[in-house]
Amino acid sequence: MERRHANSRVRVAAAGDLHCRDDHQGRFQKFVQQVNAQADLLVLCGDLTDRGWASEGKVLAGELSALRVPCVVVLGNHDYEGGAAKDICAELTRVGVHCLDGNHFLFDKVLGVAGVKGFAGGFGNATLQAFGEGLTKSFVQEAVTESLKLEAALAKIEVAKKVVIMHYAPVVETIHGENVEIFPFLGTSRLAMPVDHFGAACVFHGHAHHGSHEGKTKAGIPVYNVAMPLMARLNPDQRFKLVEV
Ligand SMILES: [Fe+2]
Ligand SMILES: [Fe+2]
Repeated sequence: MERRHANSRVRVAAAGDLHCRDDHQGRFQKFVQQVNAQADLLVLCGDLTDRGWASEGKVLAGELSALRVPCVVVLGNHDYEGGAAKDICAELTRVGVHCLDGNHFLFDKVLGVAGVKGFAGGFGNATLQAFGEGLTKSFVQEAVTESLKLEAALAKIEVAKKVVIMHYAPVVETIHGENVEIFPFLGTSRLAMPVDHFGAACVFHGHAHHGSHEGKTKAGIPVYNVAMPLMARLNPDQRFKLVEV
């Protein structure tokens, strides 16, 4: 295969929140065909399964086995629900999918994809602080840890082109449309800090099914909420975002 030039464009297809269930065989066939036809790379932003069962991971792996382009994923909160996150990753790895959790995938030596699940905690001045009860401190620590994992992942990418994938939202703009009461549980600005420090072409996330599609970090890096229910509302015929990087 001919080596890709460092400046050549990479077509990245992005989606999240597939929420694959045991009876979803065939459900993602058209999706996979469209990705094969239009993209060089597929990234998936968590909630790959609905109840976090290994059997659901196996069904999704079957669907994704028809992909002809590399696939890079992070897990979401639903993938942890059944206590089988490792088994879900194992099923996906078996068909060549790359599961990220604080590390990166290098595509064709020209594009680095950094990925973490992320966590919640709120945005801007309303970000939850590590004060008071131990449980509150643990909750905040989880968000800090995910942010540090993303920092470590980005620091190791040695190519100029980078994209970031996560499940939770790093900015508040892309969760507008959800109930304001649950905003702090949909993501946290802490996840945007390493992105702005290291730079990236864009960030993809999911989780906020009723959110908005586009936002920006403080430094102006585009953020796309690619949760599949949201993508389906934007275009029922194509349930992924396509970005040339
Ligand atoms: Fe979801
Ligand atoms: Fe989620």
